[in-house]
Amino acid sequence: MSTRHATSLDDTRRAAADFMTLLAPGDVVILVGDLGAGKTAFTQAAAAALGVRERVTSPTFTIAHPYATTHSVVKELVHVDLYRTSSLAELFDLGLDEQLDAGAVAFVEWGDLAPDAFGRPSWFVTLTVDGNEGRVITVTTTDAARESALNEWGNA
Ligand SMILES: Nc1ncnc2c1ncn2[C@@H]1O[C@H](COP(=O)(O)OP(=O)(O)OP(=O)(O)O)[C@@H](O)[C@H]1O
Ligand SMILES: [Mg+2]
Repeated sequence: MSTRHATSLDDTRRAAADFMTLLAPGDVVILVGDLGAGKTAFTQAAAAALGVRERVTSPTFTIAHPYATTHSVVKELVHVDLYRTSSLAELFDLGLDEQLDAGAVAFVEWGDLAPDAFGRPSWFVTLTVDGNEGRVITVTTTDAARESALNEWGNA
């Protein structure tokens, strides 16, 4: 587990950009945090780091939205929001597994509602509000092989 303390939105963006160097195709990133904690903001910064040109908005009314990247390895970022979804089956019907197999990464807001459903190397990014622009960002991974890289992220 590693933690960074962001004191501004820009700080969160840097933490997200640094985090992207840890990701591999097929990874699932589960974003945990209250309304307004910054799950979408973190995803937007992650998308920017992959060279997504389209504007990333909240997928609240569309369960999942794929964004093409200009990154050499991770070709797609799928932004998912489970806030209003009762059925995970719907998500898989939409083809998330195939997208991940093809080298996408998924960023899942409120994914802690279904932590075991993904069956993939996963990251849990927890954002906690600490004052107006402050955020505590804690990351854990299910992949022991990437713990040391994650520690470096925390020490940056
Ligand atoms: N350090 C920071 N990190 C992230 N967001 C910040 C920070 N400081 C201020 N903000 C603001 O907090 C808000 C975070 O909103 P965002 O939509 O990302 O939250 P969310 O967790 O996705 O909420 P929801 O549960 O409604 O989807 C934005 O308006 C953003 O500008
Ligand atoms: Mg959001």
